[in-house]
Amino acid sequence: MTTQPAQRQATRHVLAAAADVPPGTNTEVVVEGRSFALINDQGRLHLLRNVCPHHGAPLCHGRVQGHMLPSEPHTYEWSGDDEDHRVVVCPWHGYKFTLKDGRSLTEPDRMRVRSYEVVREGDEIVTYL
Ligand code: FES
Repeated sequence: MTTQPAQRQATRHVLAAAADVPPGTNTEVVVEGRSFALINDQGRLHLLRNVCPHHGAPLCHGRVQGHMLPSEPHTYEWSGDDEDHRVVVCPWHGYKFTLKDGRSLTEPDRMRVRSYEVVREGDEIVTYL
């Protein structure tokens, strides 16, 4: 008889009341002693580790925005509100990390902030860790 490795059960954590996290919010939440940046970007929720991988700045103090896209010389293309191109800008040195997966815009294969599932359940915003 073989034994299965023990699977770790995810635990439900209430991060905030939904009413306390309106669009435009970027705030710190702490779960089991770990700090996270909880972001409501235009109604879309994101949860990132609140530590910039460059030098450790708290990303909950970063600005959330679009960014410039590659374009032809003398042209400028701004990503605007496109969900795939929304970023949080580190408040210390300006590195940009995508909200969808935490990858750095400049070094996506080398520098990344861990991101987590976050959902609204009724009047609560929750994650499962
Ligand atoms: S600490 Fe974030 S870019 Fe330097």
